[in-house]
Amino acid sequence: MPADKVERVTDQPDLSTTAGKITDLRARYQEAVLDAEKTAQDKQHAKGKGTARERIELLVDPGSFVEFDEYVRHRTTAFGMDRSRPYGDSVVTGVGTIHGRTVAVYSQDFSTFGGSLGEVAGEKIIKIMEFALRGGMPCIGILDSGGARIQEGVVALGKYGEIFRLNTQASGVIPQISIIMGPAAGGAVYSPALTDFVIMVDKTSQMFVTGPDVIKTVTGEDVGMEELGGAYTHNTRSGVAHYLAEDEDDAIDYARTLLGFLPDNNMAELPVYETGFEFETTDADRFLNTVVPDSPNQPYDIHQVISHIVDAGDFLEVQPLFAPNIVIGFGRVEGRTVGIIANQPSQMAGTLNIQAGEKASRFVRFCDAFSVPILTLVDVPGYLPGTDQEWEGVIRRGAKLLYAYAEATVPLVTVILRKAYGGAYIVMGSKQLGADVNLAWPTAEIAVMGGQGAVNILYRGEIKKAEEAGEDVAAVRTRLANEYTYDVASPFLAAERGELDGIIEPAQTRVSIAKALRALRGKRASLPPKKHGNIPL
Ligand code: HXC
Repeated sequence: MPADKVERVTDQPDLSTTAGKITDLRARYQEAVLDAEKTAQDKQHAKGKGTARERIELLVDPGSFVEFDEYVRHRTTAFGMDRSRPYGDSVVTGVGTIHGRTVAVYSQDFSTFGGSLGEVAGEKIIKIMEFALRGGMPCIGILDSGGARIQEGVVALGKYGEIFRLNTQASGVIPQISIIMGPAAGGAVYSPALTDFVIMVDKTSQMFVTGPDVIKTVTGEDVGMEELGGAYTHNTRSGVAHYLAEDEDDAIDYARTLLGFLPDNNMAELPVYETGFEFETTDADRFLNTVVPDSPNQPYDIHQVISHIVDAGDFLEVQPLFAPNIVIGFGRVEGRTVGIIANQPSQMAGTLNIQAGEKASRFVRFCDAFSVPILTLVDVPGYLPGTDQEWEGVIRRGAKLLYAYAEATVPLVTVILRKAYGGAYIVMGSKQLGADVNLAWPTAEIAVMGGQGAVNILYRGEIKKAEEAGEDVAAVRTRLANEYTYDVASPFLAAERGELDGIIEPAQTRVSIAKALRALRGKRASLPPKKHGNIPL
């Protein structure tokens, strides 16, 4: 019932009549929803935050929300809890539409018991998650909670366990998005961690397993809540979060835009938009002929390339602040969603490190689970060298990206723009890992290593001789490196061997990708039957 359509009831209704029962329903709705909402507004607005229902209303299409379980009440008697049994408990749940497509939502209500999760709040969340899973619709959680309800002990913990299990069962079946709009403390952080995308609001959201006080007691470290687990920390350092929202409205906007790229579930078609795709090469396409600098050491911003490939330059970046040496996100080609993974030459020269590898692998697996074709743009000089990387497990952790690409069965299109060296060439969507269409720009350099590195090994003798003869060693080195690049790293060698399907002018990239994706729309591929693989975690 829309909240503004309900009149306040003052008189006791006659429950022996139909009219009286309807009046009674209205009175109860008034108390359970409207009065509770007013109290929640007073508490939340004072802190500059929205209420659970206001957040849902912003998220879903206007007037589309249907609430579930607004009359649920907790049954706890411990600690005098029976003196306060608010309707709905500490979470609002239900379904609504986003861009006209149904989604399930739960939104924790911090104004009731600090949004804490006890038995019935847990049951409400479990019910809506099961509903989403059965109905094949995305599930969005808005989190603002003190965690497990302390008064309910093991019962509260048990409900978290059930939620984690459902998150896991739903993984790869329906898209799951978590929007953190307040605290998420203790083990409660693991529900968002199990979902596909975590959006955090700057300054007002925190996630941590153990808080500042416990850390101080156990390790002696002094750290504030924001530094420990604020939105900035999780977007830049830990990689737990995928988007740093300026405020609650920005967080909701991002979630809505993101859902516009995603299918409802793993068996559903991707959304398709009318775009009036231009198959002729345009002036904007010709800009790509000027992007790669003449010097291989000079960086450029890969976003320029991406925005000239996707429809209307519209690219939704995911995790932009974490491991910026690799760029991931969604765009559309011919109105259809494509997941993009691209090295970023302007950050650490586009090298791959552990963080970039993990960021990209999870994205590849998300796209593969939800039938989103993957476009890979390659300009990578190799893996980042160093003891840090080796000791932190770049072998095990770097293998995740190989694994993710190698098991992906969605259409894979790869374009090598410039450098594609060594293992990094293989991992970035190479033909041998299963890519369907591999193209390169004439500026591509594909080899075991870059010219300078190769010269140090192959031409040690020549360089020594040049030194002894008093020649300009730097010039000799450059000449030999250039020769290596032209002779060995040329994309035409790869094309000659069929490792590439074609070499294109950069200006042809947008149209070539569209044609490749069109040709691959009916792709069928399957893996050998197994319970599940064993990705190196
Ligand atoms: C019951 C809780 C609660 C909780 C907060 N409240 N957390 N009630 N269980 N977990 C209540 C408070 O008593 C208070 O009630 C109201 O919510 C608002 O809380 P405040 O502390 O006044 O708010 P604020 O100052 O904003 O601080 C928010 C907070 C803090 C940082 C979240 O409340 C806090 O530290 N809470 C405990 C966090 C925690 O340790 N949770 C357990 C984590 S372990 P009144 O009546 O005064 O308004 C966990 C295990 C999950 O969650 C395991 C899964 C496997």
